[in-house]
Amino acid sequence: MELRTLGRSGYQVSEIGLGCWQLGNDFGPLEDGLAQSILETAVQNNINFLDTADVYGGGLSESRIGQWLKGQDEPPLVVTKVGRDGALFPDGYSKDKVRTNLQASAKRLGVESLDLAQLHCVPTDVLKAGDLLAWMEDFQQEGLIKHFGASVEMLDEAQFCCTHPKLTSVQIIFNLFRQDAIEALLPLAAKNNIGVIVRLPLASGLLSGKMTASQTFSDGDHRNYNKDGAAFHVGETFNGIPYEQGIALTQEVKKLLPKGMTLQQASLRWILDQPQVSTIIAGASKIEQVQLNAAASRQEPLSPELHQALADFYKVNVRQHIRGGI
Ligand SMILES: NC(=O)c1ccc[n+]([C@@H]2O[C@H](COP(=O)([O-])OP(=O)(O)OC[C@H]3O[C@@H](n4cnc5c(N)ncnc54)[C@H](OP(=O)(O)O)[C@@H]3O)[C@@H](O)[C@H]2O)c1
Repeated sequence: MELRTLGRSGYQVSEIGLGCWQLGNDFGPLEDGLAQSILETAVQNNINFLDTADVYGGGLSESRIGQWLKGQDEPPLVVTKVGRDGALFPDGYSKDKVRTNLQASAKRLGVESLDLAQLHCVPTDVLKAGDLLAWMEDFQQEGLIKHFGASVEMLDEAQFCCTHPKLTSVQIIFNLFRQDAIEALLPLAAKNNIGVIVRLPLASGLLSGKMTASQTFSDGDHRNYNKDGAAFHVGETFNGIPYEQGIALTQEVKKLLPKGMTLQQASLRWILDQPQVSTIIAGASKIEQVQLNAAASRQEPLSPELHQALADFYKVNVRQHIRGGI
């Protein structure tokens, strides 16, 4: 597993991390034992970076990680998020409430100080007003958090964050079916020493290549209830692309891949081939998925010809189908 530096924190993070939204049962129910095995498999595969949030499963994801951390001699970095809890989102933010939520995350995770706390897709005007970022600086001074970053929906929000002098990282949606950050963000982030955490690398599983048009998702799975953005931002589910359209596009893009390369492999390697990316937080609901995703770090880079073909495919065929903005 190759390591990369996470912005000004200096953390050496595995270039493949683990997204832990799944551990909150938000992709369908997942047993405690499987949750622990997924975490165990991650560290066995040299993943040292876990991404979670206070709201995943109402704290369940953090609690499961906290439980598992008790048995770890060399715990991985655990980064969490604040700002989407009902007491705060969308307009109830106060310094005391944010502090209280961060303290609750630390308690669930069983740590004194959070490795990295990210603002969690707070409304644009709230983000840009700057108070929350100033509070995060204070919480860092107090020792409640070691570093802070921001997870955002839109690239202009990420660009705004990149101008902050103390911020460590931005978290964005970036994948084969959402490529704009290559020009709009990655050079700026690198120049300003901001780490880039990539979420939805497989577009909620679409880019695993395994999904079919007739597939259904359980009631508690956001790929059912949020497929058109009914519960939260449409971009967080299937990258904002209508499901059937997404399936058709995956069938087309597979034709560009060399024999023997799966879409899952091409998708993760394509992201890793961007040197300004710090880590990919691939979500997993099965042990084998963690293993397969970690293996992307050992793959050869994609050829320049394939990169060009995938860039052209995106511009001509995919970009127009993304709902909710980029
Ligand atoms: N606003 C935010 O800050 C925000 C929003 C969304 C996500 N996140 C974070 O980003 C992480 C990653 O995003 P995500 O989980 O939504 O999307 P993702 O990583 O693109 O997709 C994860 C899903 O893809 C499938 N999958 C993963 N690896 C696979 C493999 N090797 N082979 C076949 N299928 C595979 C699984 O689907 P099945 O479960 O159906 O098998 C898995 O649940 C989350 O866990 C979370 O930590 C943050």
